[in-house]
Amino acid sequence: MVRVRASLSRLPAYVPGRKPHGAIVLASNESPYGLLPGVAETLAEAVGGVSRYPDLRAVPLIEALAAHHRVEPERIAVGAGSSEVCAQLLHTVVSSGDEVVFGWRSFEAYPILTTVAGGTPVPVPLREHTLDLDAMVAAITSRTRAVFVCNPNNPTSTAVGAGALSDFADRVPEDVLIVVDEAYREYADPAAVPDGLALLGDRPNVVVLRTFSKAYGLAGLRVGYCVAPPGIAAHVRRTQVPFSVSALAQLAAVVALGEPAEVARRAALTVAERERVTGRLRALGHEVPDSQANFVWLPLGGDGENFALHCADGQVVVRPFPGEGVRVTIGLPEENDALLALAETWKG
Ligand SMILES: Cc1ncc(COP(=O)(O)O)c(C=O)c1O
Repeated sequence: MVRVRASLSRLPAYVPGRKPHGAIVLASNESPYGLLPGVAETLAEAVGGVSRYPDLRAVPLIEALAAHHRVEPERIAVGAGSSEVCAQLLHTVVSSGDEVVFGWRSFEAYPILTTVAGGTPVPVPLREHTLDLDAMVAAITSRTRAVFVCNPNNPTSTAVGAGALSDFADRVPEDVLIVVDEAYREYADPAAVPDGLALLGDRPNVVVLRTFSKAYGLAGLRVGYCVAPPGIAAHVRRTQVPFSVSALAQLAAVVALGEPAEVARRAALTVAERERVTGRLRALGHEVPDSQANFVWLPLGGDGENFALHCADGQVVVRPFPGEGVRVTIGLPEENDALLALAETWKG
């Protein structure tokens, strides 16, 4: 009998958003606006090249990212989505039994990837749907190797401000890696939510994680990256599965990065819709925390699954978190209207 790792049987499964044919899918926090200008043409031109391996070091993409963030290329490492970069970071710092602290509920990959890396997840309950940074500092022990700060937080949509975040970073020991996961940064109000890179990027134990899957509209191509101190970035490159970022993903990401005005325009449309949806849901009596992301959170507790079933009956797929609530991605205006119509007919 092959002896598999006991910890894997305790692994929670990653639950992907469902995508039934013909339904409106508001379950995976994707951009509803499709590809950015130039991406489809670039992919069509490059598709004939996929019989070859991609550039292992993703040099043009890393150079484009370095220029975009005005940092040295040595500070950038890429992966197949920021999920893979999370895993690479954990493989960089976690040895068997080491602890990884994160707010909970937060991005569901954190406990999974921590366990796969041989570490012990340390979830710290949120306070009022927001990361409890004091409690997260208090949860750090001599075994802690990393702490994830998901800002804005998935699935609760809230964010922590600059003062709280830098105060937190001051209190985390310098040998603990702080991973500021900014997957939804483009949807956040810059006056309320700090740019982790500008605020903390110079610290030797801070890594900022970004993705092309949300505002850049490339979720299906799988490309994300981190900006890190050069020594950490070098290890993140070492722990990458070789060639995990395809040539098509690298090329598309460079083109998408060259469209900042269009990215901002689309994000602003989503933000305006988010405010409309939030206002309407609140008028229906729902508690809806202030969102800084491209989704809203309905803390419906045990009623969440019933709400999600009601929506599914009306051909709108949302994402329930059993016993906690429902996450609703902001889609196109007519998709949001369909969601709101269902919210109106729901008898909770
Ligand atoms: C907070 C957060 N981080 C990272 C990711 C990973 O995104 P990807 O692996 O597609 O880059 C997600 C995806 O939902 C997320 O919500």
